[in-house]
Amino acid sequence: MITKEAVLEALSNVQEPDLGKDLVTLNMISDIEIDGKKVSFRVMLTTPACPLKAMIEKACINAIHHLVDKDAEVNVIMDARVNTNRKDNQSVLPGVKNIIMVASGKGGVGKSTVSVNLAIGLAREGAKVGLLDADIYGPSVPIMMGIRDERPKMTEVNGEAMIVPIEKYGIKVMSIGFLIDEKQAVIWRGPMASSALKQFITGVYWQELDYLIIDLPPGTGDVHLTMVQTVPVTGAVIVSTPQAVAAADARKAIMMFKQPQINVPILGIVENMAYFTPQELPDNKYYIFGKGGAKQMAEQFDLPCLGEIPIVQSIREGGDKGVPAVMDDNSVSGRAFADLARHVARNVAIRNADMEPTKVVEMKN
Ligand SMILES: Nc1ncnc2c1ncn2[C@@H]1O[C@H](COP(=O)(O)OP(=O)(O)O)[C@@H](O)[C@H]1O
Ligand SMILES: [Mg+2]
Repeated sequence: MITKEAVLEALSNVQEPDLGKDLVTLNMISDIEIDGKKVSFRVMLTTPACPLKAMIEKACINAIHHLVDKDAEVNVIMDARVNTNRKDNQSVLPGVKNIIMVASGKGGVGKSTVSVNLAIGLAREGAKVGLLDADIYGPSVPIMMGIRDERPKMTEVNGEAMIVPIEKYGIKVMSIGFLIDEKQAVIWRGPMASSALKQFITGVYWQELDYLIIDLPPGTGDVHLTMVQTVPVTGAVIVSTPQAVAAADARKAIMMFKQPQINVPILGIVENMAYFTPQELPDNKYYIFGKGGAKQMAEQFDLPCLGEIPIVQSIREGGDKGVPAVMDDNSVSGRAFADLARHVARNVAIRNADMEPTKVVEMKN
């Protein structure tokens, strides 16, 4: 006779490697059902994009076979509920579980490309995702998402006017580009910038999101400060390229987030344009801008390396056409971005398990 107790006992030997505890202690097991030799249960992961999903499923099956009954027919329902460290009833972006800023030191390193493909990559794994383009100097998300000619509508929520994000490729998108025309741009860069931006950040009707990805302007300027003063940022993803100048600027961005009064956790570093690979010879990698720069920086700051994205024509073309590279599962670049999404999700889950919630930064001017 197989019992629920025996199943739980066996599963308490299966570790969640990232969180360093077993599945039972972590409350990840539910809905155990037993019918003769048939055993079924649900494993609730902390993200649908968990790169260890297959490994954990296999470990569960092995545990039942080794510790309960070698002939059991095991059916594992792999499920996920994205974790958060935000408390309920927050006034700012109340339904948003994780707020992730994508930052870089230099412009042109592929921050928007990474933001767009990361957001869609997470959604393709089953998460609810929003993408906010806050680059007041060069909002490029509308073009990259193929929504350049669309305009978001307004709606009223509890008596307040809010912007309804545009939906495309399974994510919700809002860009400051929809609000800027050249004559108006001064509002976003002048003395009113901070309050206008705050309104823009809090005035979008996202509803429930697992991840909100924010594409920031390059550098370490006012938008960054306004952002950390307006929302509790779960973590930052730093985008760099192998060139020494880009890496030097990325270090500055890292140092800014690490300042004690800002204190935004850094989820890791993405190296974009890491190597060139010809379409017809995808196993050949040419490190034309140098090799290992991001890894070195990651080691120096004790941060994870979240991914290496190759430089390929299709990424640029996809950006220009409004069809992001991650949509193509069969391409090298599509797989690199899908991998990146899983790595980011994993590091968000670890961050939420290990660290205190981020506080909104209070500035004494
Ligand atoms: N891995 C890549 N391979 C090829 N082109 C890329 C890659 N990453 C970015 N690009 C292209 O480089 C340009 C700058 O990228 P973008 O994402 O706009 O940078 P940023 O937002 O940092 O200014 C765009 O034309 C984009 O399509
Ligand atoms: Mg950009």
